[in-house]
Amino acid sequence: MRLNPFTGVYLTDPADMWRRILDDPYRAHYADDLGLWLISRHADVRRALADTATFANALTLAPVYEVCPEAMNVVVQIDAPPTTAAADPPAHPRTRRALRATFANTADRVEAEYGAIVRRRVDQLVSRLVARQGDQVDLVAAFATELPLLVVLDILGVPDADIARIRRWADGQIALIWGQPDPAEQVRLAQGLLEFWQYCQELVRQRVDSGDRRADFISRALAYRDDDDAVLTVPEVASLAFNLLVAGHETTAGLLAHALDQALSTPQRWAALTEDPRTVPAFVAETLRFAPAIDGWLRVTRRDVTLGEVTIPAGARCLLLIGAANRDPSVFAHPDRFDPHRPDVGDHLSFGHGPHFCIGAGLARLEAGIALTRLAAAIPGLRFAPEQHRSYKPNVAFRAHHTLNAIIDITAPVAVPAAREAATVESSTAGG
Ligand code: HEM
Repeated sequence: MRLNPFTGVYLTDPADMWRRILDDPYRAHYADDLGLWLISRHADVRRALADTATFANALTLAPVYEVCPEAMNVVVQIDAPPTTAAADPPAHPRTRRALRATFANTADRVEAEYGAIVRRRVDQLVSRLVARQGDQVDLVAAFATELPLLVVLDILGVPDADIARIRRWADGQIALIWGQPDPAEQVRLAQGLLEFWQYCQELVRQRVDSGDRRADFISRALAYRDDDDAVLTVPEVASLAFNLLVAGHETTAGLLAHALDQALSTPQRWAALTEDPRTVPAFVAETLRFAPAIDGWLRVTRRDVTLGEVTIPAGARCLLLIGAANRDPSVFAHPDRFDPHRPDVGDHLSFGHGPHFCIGAGLARLEAGIALTRLAAAIPGLRFAPEQHRSYKPNVAFRAHHTLNAIIDITAPVAVPAAREAATVESSTAGG
């Protein structure tokens, strides 16, 4: 099986590949050019995500290709202890407990603790867009990638002045681990990643030395550990911050971009959102299913695993095709149709499943819900600029748009008939 996420059809229309792999009688395929086993069916992906005794997370954050020796010399200096997504038992349950205690992860807690931050940041960005009435704006740069970064920095207690370098480091990490940079680029990105790790360590060290305790995540994590390394070490606090700064913004940026793409590529859908904001949560859920921001995620087998007629050997790296699982026709009727009204709209695997289920799912939903509601209210005439070409950054895991150019039009649009019904439209393109 050939799957090249860096060129060709998988880069522009992954749904075509997902359909073909789901139609194939074999349940697992070895992708020679990637050196990864592909698992695509909903039941198999769900099980692999949850079955930590068989599928380990150890290499989830390790580059998916052979890194050149010069870059590797830098990578080995990043001595971040494994926490959450990169950890297996016993470190995983312990560090996850710490995260659950210090980071809001239920809808009620997320609203209570982060609602005000999200609304303030959304309003700030929406007002900037409104001020550009009549202009063409790239919604990826001006909104989708900006909002989650500002929010996660507020939650962690990181100064706004560091935004630019954190964005550069986080983008670099995603390209270094799941992209295909050339050797010179690998060295540059690896150096950036080392600086990023040193920055997170320094952030935590300053807080420990000063004894300064605030309401942010870093202070909470230090209070939670209460000077007890058996609970959580200081480097683990830095490692949690390191992971949250990436997990907290690249993913939600993807969700916002995909939601805007789905809404604006069919103007009736945008009209439906402006007419009835109560439809926003289901729209966000269907975006998560149809166009997941992470459409492939990694595991490594701890033993031989047999799926139907195929046996994956022990020690093999597997790419769980979340995007394909979300289009599995044995679970979702008309899976290639974008339909926020489907009864099982929440059965996607976009936030993972089981012990590693995304700790930020509640925050991501809150951000997307508030963002879409306020954008639709403030800019009802928002529409794509002519000649919109959808293209994604080459990556094995993250499906991120390059740009989404739109015209800012704060005047209400001419009424679009049957707007609500039109939110359900058969889509032959992937939409991500
Ligand atoms: C649309 C947005 C998001 C998507 C699609 C997403 C996706 C995922 C997925 C697929 C996993 C499972 C990883 C695994 O099984 O190994 C995960 C875990 C995780 N996510 Fe998210 N995520 C999103 C937003 C966020 C946000 C906003 C945060 C925090 C600010 C966050 C923090 C985490 C953390 C810490 C884990 C690791 C949990 C663990 O291993 O116990 N995510 N996420």
